[in-house]
Amino acid sequence: MSEHHSFHHIYPWTKAPLIVSAPMRDVSGPALAAAVSAAGGLGFIAGGEDVSGLENKLSEAARLVAEHKARRGSPDDNSLLFHNSSSLPVGIGVINWGADFNVALPLIVKYRPCAVWLFAPSESASDQIPWVQQIREQTDGDVAIWVQVGNIEEACAAVAELQPDVLVLQGSDGGGHGLVRSASVLSLVPEMIDRLQTKFFDGSSNTVIPKIVAAGGLADGRGAAAAFTLGAEAIAMGTRFLASFEADIPKEYQQAIIEAKYGGANTVRSHVFDSARGTSQWPSKFEPRGVINRTYTEFIAGNTTEPDNYQRYHEALRNREQYGPNGRIDTLCGTSVGLVGEVLPAGEIVRKIARDTERILLTDRWSKL
Ligand SMILES: Cc1cc2nc3c(=O)[nH]c(=O)nc-3n(C[C@H](O)[C@H](O)[C@H](O)COP(=O)(O)O)c2cc1C
Repeated sequence: MSEHHSFHHIYPWTKAPLIVSAPMRDVSGPALAAAVSAAGGLGFIAGGEDVSGLENKLSEAARLVAEHKARRGSPDDNSLLFHNSSSLPVGIGVINWGADFNVALPLIVKYRPCAVWLFAPSESASDQIPWVQQIREQTDGDVAIWVQVGNIEEACAAVAELQPDVLVLQGSDGGGHGLVRSASVLSLVPEMIDRLQTKFFDGSSNTVIPKIVAAGGLADGRGAAAAFTLGAEAIAMGTRFLASFEADIPKEYQQAIIEAKYGGANTVRSHVFDSARGTSQWPSKFEPRGVINRTYTEFIAGNTTEPDNYQRYHEALRNREQYGPNGRIDTLCGTSVGLVGEVLPAGEIVRKIARDTERILLTDRWSKL
């Protein structure tokens, strides 16, 4: 994968503009990933920081892909038939500070997901070097390396240390965990593209320029078109796919996503969600973004201690009504949540956003100028 090919060249079942479903821990399972890929996108299964359940997810994905292939020719299942390689047309995501390399690697070798999406090393990109080296060595380059980063410093380190095939630039609007210190994709994407051209593409270096994917705050064709205009070659979305039929998500969580509005005012990136949930092992530079709820407001107001908040959170878990602003269970999502008003099949989300993006980029702009 040394030359700069289009995504369609690398993943023949995909269509431009490429829409990717991001790995979301506990939410992005095989059904979501397979549906996104079957619609001409690229779906990622979340391996998370505990990859003990990964084999079941991969074997289920292989089964679903075979099922989609058998339906070739039906109007909503056209694309996987173009994919004849032995790798699976879905990717997997791992959270590096926790994921057990010795468990994940043999599964990657066995099932050959078409991409592995690395995120959140304990310290820095160099922690991820063994993953990159071994995956490449043991899969004959069948499995592409995607690395998600959240600011220019991290992005440059990832390029220098890992030479990823794809760099996912996660802007500050994104849902779930992201860097405390980050910028929106609006400046992150073009600034990184400039850096790549000057720093790594000066003729003196053999570094392969990665493909750029934008993530964070993108939930419809308008955001996607903006990201492509900034120079991204694909977009990845998490929050939008929380409201898909195939997401593994409690329906009360999904309902809270549909109801949430004004993500700038009503979501926040905060470690309080981690401490209440008991997931404080995240490196401190990452915090999760979610709907401002009682877990957050009561703690910030000084009305509860950390241990109390933890206890109340776990009591609330037994009652799934407690999502959203008046609840305690975290409703992780990004600032784009106000644009997500309807639960749809994942394939329809992919097709609609691709269609709208194309229309905006190819026609609307010109007719309005
Ligand atoms: C509920 C949730 C869980 C997430 N889990 C993961 C994860 O396991 N691994 C990962 O790399 N990114 C994870 N992310 C971040 C996504 O990869 C992506 O950066 C983000 O969703 C993009 O922003 P958006 O939510 O505005 O679309 C998660 C995001 C959400 C909303």
